Amino acid sequence: MQKALEYAQSHAAQFQNELNDLIRIPSVSTDSAYNVQVRQAADWLMTHLQNIGLETELIEKEGRYPLVYAYWLGAGESAKTVLIYGHYDVQPAQKSDGWDTEPFEPVEKDGILYARGTTDDKGQIFAHIKAIEAVLKAEGRLPVNVKLLIEGEEESGGEHIADYVPANAEKFAADVCVISDSSMTTPDQPVILNGLRGGTALEVTLQGPKQDLHSGSFGGTVQNPIHALVELLGKLHDSEGRILVPGYYDAVRTLSDAERQEIADTQMDEAEWKDATGASRPFGEPGFTLSEQIGARPTLEITGIGGGYFERGFKNIVPQKAWAKISCRFVPDQDPATVQKQVIDFLRQNVPLGVTLDVSIPNNRAGSPAVLVNTDNPAMPAAIRAYTQGWGAAPVFRREGGSIPIVGIFQNVLRMPVILMGFGLNTDGLHGPNEHFDLRLFHRGIRTSIHFLHEATSI
Ligand code: BES
Ligand code: MN
Ligand code: MN
Repeated sequence: MQKALEYAQSHAAQFQNELNDLIRIPSVSTDSAYNVQVRQAADWLMTHLQNIGLETELIEKEGRYPLVYAYWLGAGESAKTVLIYGHYDVQPAQKSDGWDTEPFEPVEKDGILYARGTTDDKGQIFAHIKAIEAVLKAEGRLPVNVKLLIEGEEESGGEHIADYVPANAEKFAADVCVISDSSMTTPDQPVILNGLRGGTALEVTLQGPKQDLHSGSFGGTVQNPIHALVELLGKLHDSEGRILVPGYYDAVRTLSDAERQEIADTQMDEAEWKDATGASRPFGEPGFTLSEQIGARPTLEITGIGGGYFERGFKNIVPQKAWAKISCRFVPDQDPATVQKQVIDFLRQNVPLGVTLDVSIPNNRAGSPAVLVNTDNPAMPAAIRAYTQGWGAAPVFRREGGSIPIVGIFQNVLRMPVILMGFGLNTDGLHGPNEHFDLRLFHRGIRTSIHFLHEATSI
């Protein structure tokens, strides 16, 4: 193993250059304008994975982005098998969103790599790819069988993988599923997640007059769809942040004292929260701590809003329509379809006079449920040893508020232990401008993964 660690160290610059090549491909899965680029990222990975010595298969489905599947099964049938999941798609990014540099042109500054996808998730999945390469090159083989499954639709709901994996359970059978698509608070205290929220998305459009109208001639006589939208959206929460959709909290599991204690023990404190958000003060559902709000309470968030005139200056119109995008986060025991219906019913019942409501749901799916990861699983000791030796510190457990929709399928349908071993930092700016990844953490991630590939023999 020492040789593999040395190989990784002596190839650090090469690894970074390769990661930069992958990052330069703007594989934005949520915007169909990037259709070609998303596929290009999949092709890039296919070639790369073949070059380091893996067998590959591009799993296509009409109208969807392909799954990149790569494997090395040379350890034999009696050896353990590690399944590694990640995603090659990224969130949208435009320089005008507030980036200091071009979002798809990686720039290294003081050991930190800036670009969209550096931490979410290209850099993190690439750490595993480079660990596999290092072990293969240094040792000529891997101590375990490895299956790598990298999807291109994680940021847009993951429909292809959610259909394909359960239908091909045998193909992905493994003793453990490892996922690095999350983060820790400080570089020296690694975190293994024991919970993720689920979620869904909705787009709401209110249609008013047949076209934009002169606001002098018609203003005051027709319902303004933006006014109507503001009124409708204003009914979704009270002024303290509680969600007012009837039934929204009904199924939410009440936290036991032990769970509250467990969450409190790994609490994000207000200083960390301030550092990560830059917001003036915490604001959220009363009666719950910051960590409880993030890990164990559902949300309903308006993530985008539009309508009317955006350009410089003024245009005196009554706009034809207004729209908003809504994202819901689910916690344990909430059923995505039920909650989604509650939200849609509430919106329908509260449509202001004079406009019509249109609700669209991406891919007509109800979204994904929350998942609590069983940390008492047979692969956990190997993961703890890998972090201890490879990262330099033993990990702590924490719940996160984000979602990785496929995790529930791996754990609860394929029934395999899941290890959410993130290599990023909470402050990496994922989904926002100036997303970045500390390259020290990239290399620690590679080392941790090299250790894990060896420790996994004892699962
Ligand atoms: N890597 C994130 C999930 C995440 C974020 C985990 C923060 C832990 C900490 C993932 O890429 C993501 O953004 N998921 C989406 C899924 C959604 C589109 C279904 C999310 O959480 O919004
Ligand atoms: Mn991610
Ligand atoms: Mn993401």
